[in-house]
Amino acid sequence: MPPMNYRFSTRALSAKSSDVRDLLLHAQNPDIISLAGGLPAAEFFDVDGIRNAAASVLKHSSTSALQYGMTEGQPRLKAALKKHLASKGIRASDSTLIVTTGSQQGLDLIARAFINEGETIVVERPTYLAALQAFNLCAPNYVSINIDDQGGCVHELQSLENLPHEQKPKLIYVVTNFANPSGVSMSLERRRWLAQWAVKNEVFVLEDDPYGDLYDGSAPPTPLAAIAQSIPGASDWCGYASSLSKCLAPGLRIGWMVLPEALARIVVRLKQAMDLHTSTLTQEIAATYLESGAMDDRLVLIRNAYKLRRQTLTEALSKTFGSRISISPSTGGMFIWGRFTDGTQTRPLLAKAIEEKVIFVPGDVFYASDPDQSSLRLNFTSASPERLIEGVRRLAMAM
Ligand SMILES: Cc1ncc(COP(=O)(O)O)c(C=O)c1O
Repeated sequence: MPPMNYRFSTRALSAKSSDVRDLLLHAQNPDIISLAGGLPAAEFFDVDGIRNAAASVLKHSSTSALQYGMTEGQPRLKAALKKHLASKGIRASDSTLIVTTGSQQGLDLIARAFINEGETIVVERPTYLAALQAFNLCAPNYVSINIDDQGGCVHELQSLENLPHEQKPKLIYVVTNFANPSGVSMSLERRRWLAQWAVKNEVFVLEDDPYGDLYDGSAPPTPLAAIAQSIPGASDWCGYASSLSKCLAPGLRIGWMVLPEALARIVVRLKQAMDLHTSTLTQEIAATYLESGAMDDRLVLIRNAYKLRRQTLTEALSKTFGSRISISPSTGGMFIWGRFTDGTQTRPLLAKAIEEKVIFVPGDVFYASDPDQSSLRLNFTSASPERLIEGVRRLAMAM
């Protein structure tokens, strides 16, 4: 539809709808098997636990839960999050921890804090689509680093060291654990290297980690943010973002960031202008739930179920497509990242797949530039193992 005679801002006109969101419209059709979205399995939501937490909040803390709150976040939730972060080796204080409305808001805030039009930022290729959407509104110049089996190829940053000051990147965005979309985690050695590089070159790194608790077997390496706290000066150049969306419930819209104090102060000001604060009601519910200790047991359940689903989808893909598909190594998260080695282009394949009633996300949307047209992202968490197998059968029909 033409935009009437409204004189929209360049920023508004540049905003594109995410292909994943558009695909989710198909996902609402029960005949369609969706391997496209990034939805956690709804059957593992701890509905009773959240109901009890909500009832307790309304009974005992209704004033703070229904009143305006502090932009930085509710003190009770911050206390619970500090404990959670400490279990990962990250020290946070009231002045460095900010509760956000989902971690997505954190990405938007960091973009606003750093990027002027045309300034350089570094992302991985492939990277999280909605991070690109948030960053795009600030019209940056992107530099991409590749991803291999060890995660982001951070050594490629060396090529940026001798650029004139105004062309040097201001921000590096990495998804360190079971990344969306690649499923890959960054190795410990690379995390250390990146923290050291950041402090030496004075470039801010945002580590986005919503999937780190969704592992099978052993936990991923120590977060970059924790490593940075043991390297002199590095915690001034490394920040951390995470969320309850993947482990508890995305509908709560609870995320957080741990940032150097000077940056946290700026980000709080930006957030004030955006939404005053994240919902006090859901913050209090989340705090009560975390205090109950129920999350640990729930995570065990989710990890086991996701492990089975990931293995089922991986095996079905390997059996069906053999050497025609290469799959990135992963031991957690919510996605399988594949690449057809026979030149199959995944965007035309999607059109055929919709006819066969299965959907996935063509990989090209996850690149800031030079997309790989043969790649695709498959979600394994929101369909049952039987539906995953059937989904791959339909995909083979589409091929
Ligand atoms: C890498 C990554 N970061 C951030 C988010 C945003 O999550 P939320 O805003 O629900 O915390 C997502 C959601 O899919 C994601 O995959």
